[in-house]
Amino acid sequence: MFRPHVLRQALRNSAPSIALDTSARAFLLDVPKARFISSTSALLRKGDQHDAASTAGKPGESGDHEGQFARTDGSVRVEYPEKQGLPASQPVQGRGGRHFKRTLATFSLEGRVAVVTGGARGLGLVMSQGLVESGADVALVDLNKDEAAKSAQQLVDNWKSENPDADRVPNVTAHYADVSNPTSVDEAISEILQQHGKIDNLVTSAGFTENFDAVSYPYDRMKKLWGVNVDGTYLFGVAVAKHLMERKAPGSLVFIGSMSGAVVNVPQPQAPYNAAKAAVRHLAASFAVEWAHAGIRVNTISPGYMLTALTKKILDDNPELKQKWTSLIPQGKMGRPEDLMGAVTFLSSDASAYMTGADLRIDGGYTVT
Ligand SMILES: NC(=O)c1ccc[n+]([C@@H]2O[C@H](COP(=O)([O-])OP(=O)(O)OC[C@H]3O[C@@H](n4cnc5c(N)ncnc54)[C@H](O)[C@@H]3O)[C@@H](O)[C@H]2O)c1
Repeated sequence: MFRPHVLRQALRNSAPSIALDTSARAFLLDVPKARFISSTSALLRKGDQHDAASTAGKPGESGDHEGQFARTDGSVRVEYPEKQGLPASQPVQGRGGRHFKRTLATFSLEGRVAVVTGGARGLGLVMSQGLVESGADVALVDLNKDEAAKSAQQLVDNWKSENPDADRVPNVTAHYADVSNPTSVDEAISEILQQHGKIDNLVTSAGFTENFDAVSYPYDRMKKLWGVNVDGTYLFGVAVAKHLMERKAPGSLVFIGSMSGAVVNVPQPQAPYNAAKAAVRHLAASFAVEWAHAGIRVNTISPGYMLTALTKKILDDNPELKQKWTSLIPQGKMGRPEDLMGAVTFLSSDASAYMTGADLRIDGGYTVT
């Protein structure tokens, strides 16, 4: 007659490489003997089959699918285009206008002046539109001043057509700055103060990504990427905080990070961008602690894949990416710039008065899987 401990001993002797977990041990002790004996060999065979999929197996031994959905693909390469190669973008239609639906007054930005870096186009432009619709005057800051001026005019025209009876038209201005250059940042801040008299809010949307496998990424391009994404956020954040402290006024700063600051999204390789966006998120948290005494709040918005004029161009050039991206997003869709309008208004306004150092991920659920 078999006893469980004799069986276990026999099993250990016959298959020394199989480590039994707790449930397998319970199984050994609980099953009736006849069933147990017939199951033992099946358990061993199954374990052997699965070894190839464990660290006991060689790379690729269990199939070509190993790591398929969790690895970068070095063949995906995207360079950020020069100014003239950037596709134009537009404010969105039909999101503004006076309405009589009840909403919390704390979301209003009336009387506030907001600065949006990278505001000439893309997410920055549509977030600026959200701030304007919520009552703020806005200064668009961009490397491309001509485009910023056109966008400022479009925002005002759009606003006028959606609010024909309004007694006051928002003041939307355009300013040049290279956000990675301290002198240029200081000059832009003084120009904005001359034209608006004060600054209450900042949104840092100037930034870009590029896709290169790390070993091939030219160092000067990497430095530029960090310069715009990290130094640019730091310089504008510090300059606006300094102004608010001099004025002894509270304020709210919103840094645009990315879900790539929290996860390594695949398949496109972009190590420096991911690290830069992680830096942006932690910079916001660190500033939040440092400036809480002055009533200055600092939070980040971390978008997932958003469909802008630029991402449309990337998808035109790399059609296989769209399916890969959307298959990894629980909501199954890319976001649109207008999906950030509410978040930027919330974080800029008194509706988020007790929120600082936080990160709002707006990614269709990408980072929770
Ligand atoms: N589009 C997305 O899917 C996505 C996702 C996550 C995060 N983001 C982030 O959102 C931000 C905006 O992205 P976007 O898609 O709107 O890009 P975009 O290229 O459409 O707009 C960026 C703007 O920043 C300006 N800019 C670039 N370098 C600058 C500099 N040195 N000084 C001043 N302005 C400069 C550009 O001229 C442009 O107008 C970026 O920080 C980006 O990393 C975008």
